[in-house]
Amino acid sequence: MTRKVPMGAAALILAAGEGTRMKSALPKVAHRILGAPLVRYVVDAARSAGCDRIVVVTGHGAEAVELLVDGEPCVRQEKRLGTGHAVMSASEALSGLTGSLVVLSGDSPLLRAETIRRLVDARETSGAAAIVLTTVLEDPTGYGRIVRDVDGRLEAIVEHKDLTSDQLSITETNTGTYCFDAEVLFTHLTRLGNENSQGEYYLTDMIALLRAEGLVVDDIAAAESTETLGVNSRVQLAEAAKVMQSRINNEHMLAGVTMTDPNLVWIAPSVVIGRDVVLEPMTFLLGSTTVADGCTIGPDSRITDSRIAREAVVDSSVVTGAVVGVGATVGPRAYLRPGTVLDARARVGTSVEIKNTTIGEGSKVPHLSYIGDATVGKDVNIGAGTITCNYDGALKHRTVIGDGAFVGSDTMLVAPVTIGEGAITGAGSAIAKDVPAGALGVERCEQKNVDGWATRKRAAKKTDQE
Ligand code: UD1
Ligand code: CA
Repeated sequence: MTRKVPMGAAALILAAGEGTRMKSALPKVAHRILGAPLVRYVVDAARSAGCDRIVVVTGHGAEAVELLVDGEPCVRQEKRLGTGHAVMSASEALSGLTGSLVVLSGDSPLLRAETIRRLVDARETSGAAAIVLTTVLEDPTGYGRIVRDVDGRLEAIVEHKDLTSDQLSITETNTGTYCFDAEVLFTHLTRLGNENSQGEYYLTDMIALLRAEGLVVDDIAAAESTETLGVNSRVQLAEAAKVMQSRINNEHMLAGVTMTDPNLVWIAPSVVIGRDVVLEPMTFLLGSTTVADGCTIGPDSRITDSRIAREAVVDSSVVTGAVVGVGATVGPRAYLRPGTVLDARARVGTSVEIKNTTIGEGSKVPHLSYIGDATVGKDVNIGAGTITCNYDGALKHRTVIGDGAFVGSDTMLVAPVTIGEGAITGAGSAIAKDVPAGALGVERCEQKNVDGWATRKRAAKKTDQE
């Protein structure tokens, strides 16, 4: 028999809860690990599992959460009356849905796409009304427990607060991840009650309800229990971040990235890294950053939403919204702000800040400079202490520096100003007028030397002390 092509399942992500245990003004699923909000991990897992329709239930802090789900449709659960009630809020949005509906918790960021696929496959192969993803936990405190009949078949899920004393020892738990037959789920949903310790409509009660109807319910175990961690507190948020960090780092190392100490490297899920990249300790690669083959990054570097080309080096620097060209070097202690483009082999050195500026091929800004709103040509040398005075208090102005120019140390470039090709500026000059190509621009009082002055002064001081 040929295996069925997995049909598109729908996914419903429950994300309306407040997350009281987080003690936060922010809704729980908006908390971040490795720079990405919890709910986004769940949306991405559902997508990569092949769910072709995704609906998110929002409620507490709905506006904030709705901005984080990458355009997926949301339904509002106005009153939070439990996980069963959250599913009821989506019944209109999903009306007429047939086939598999995966229900996921917005607070379970570690669940793998592969596991969602297994869950859907299990339901579609068996035709069950519901499949529950379970796991055995050493400490099951707080989780719903899996209650089985004498034949070992799934009979019910009992919430921690509703356990009888002889059920307390059950360590097999409900992960809060399910695959339902959508039609069966919605036709039985209205029969959920709220007679329990929390007065909530529990989605977990569907299991006993469906069993009582004589329908097939079953379960599969998660491959690893860490995958099912639900984040309810900041302690669990840190635990989840640790697991995600090592999962992502292992994938990169297996794909050819060297990490001196993977415990001290943090990479967001969306980051793309080439081969033979070396990541030194205390490196953060965040947002939509890409790092091409052969780069060395770190130690002590944070790169966000930036593109780093082949063979570039970034040492002890902060890079945001920038492009670093092939073989370019950055740092130590440089700050590249949005709109910075370093062309091939450009060099930005110690304590240099650059913003909204292109630095041409082979050009150097080696020490202690601020270059903002500028276009710098090829093979330019910018001396130590150079500053573009780009802001007059009201408007930003551009500085243009032609190919091969040499800007002397401590030049103030008062924008708008243009330094022509191959021109030179004298050290310490405040250049407020354009310097033509090939010219010297110098703005300085003439130096006066007073012969013997220093020697006489020292001698006078010595006589005073005697
Ligand atoms: C739930 C399960 C429990 C399971 C555990 C696994 C129920 C009743 N219990 O408990 O069996 O072991 O997950 O992590 O389902 N939510 C809403 N609207 C609501 C209530 C909750 O959208 O009215 C959302 C929350 O935002 C959260 C998810 O549903 O993303 C789970 O809710 P939560 O309160 O965290 O349930 P648990 O107590 O963890
Ligand atoms: Ca939870």
